[in-house]
Amino acid sequence: MRAIELKNVSKIYKNGVKALAGVSLTVKQGEFIAVMGQSGSGKSTLLQIAGLLDDCTSGQIIINGNGVSRLNKNVLADIRMKSLGFVFQSFHLDTHLKAYENIMVPMLINAEYKNKSAMKERAIQLAETVGLTNRIEHYPGELSGGEQQRVAIARALANNPDFILADEPTGNLDSKNEIIIFEELKRLSISGKGVLVVSHNDAVKDYADRVLTMKDGILEHTDEK
Ligand SMILES: Nc1ncnc2c1ncn2[C@@H]1O[C@H](COP(=O)(O)OP(=O)(O)OP(=O)(O)O)[C@@H](O)[C@H]1O
Ligand SMILES: [Mg+2]
Repeated sequence: MRAIELKNVSKIYKNGVKALAGVSLTVKQGEFIAVMGQSGSGKSTLLQIAGLLDDCTSGQIIINGNGVSRLNKNVLADIRMKSLGFVFQSFHLDTHLKAYENIMVPMLINAEYKNKSAMKERAIQLAETVGLTNRIEHYPGELSGGEQQRVAIARALANNPDFILADEPTGNLDSKNEIIIFEELKRLSISGKGVLVVSHNDAVKDYADRVLTMKDGILEHTDEK
């Protein structure tokens, strides 16, 4: 099964904060899951651990059937590059690169892509799928927040990942752009990607297949919808 599975995952930071206290969650391909919860409840920690950006203290992470706990850093980086795409609140675009060049960045570090003009063509196609056809030559500073986030989504899709993980993707956007971003993420889940969004934006409930609530490091599996 293609899925991200977290089994009884706990995270205690070095300073002693217990950010996750036995979280279990499965994100399957084609599914849009939203995790909501108050500030400090552990949402970003959950996303970082599900996305192999940080280690858990105990529990298991299984991606597409493979347990990741014993894998070395290079293998983890390879899984991250090929299977996971990330979207963040503050976009994290390179301000010195044009929109299409930002979208190309993950392809440049993927040895599977070798031909630069093919990469550019793919980047332009991805820009089109997120509705940015007329903005590909723009630098991030020349784009609206919503457009920048769409560049970030296109970049997350660069290596055709199975999953998109988004941390507060509409945190810096107005309500019109919020809808555009959630609709885009919804479209991706319908096209077969597994989408995990952590957010305190209530609007996400209209798009998610399942809405879970994080409270003090515990994930409540009662569906709020
Ligand atoms: N790197 C870190 N080192 C130590 N403690 C941390 C670290 N990152 C987060 N924490 C603590 O872990 C808890 C959970 O933090 P987390 O960032 O996951 O919350 P969150 O739900 O994403 O909050 P927000 O909605 O404000 O983004 C908080 O108490 C926070 O202070
Ligand atoms: Mg957070």
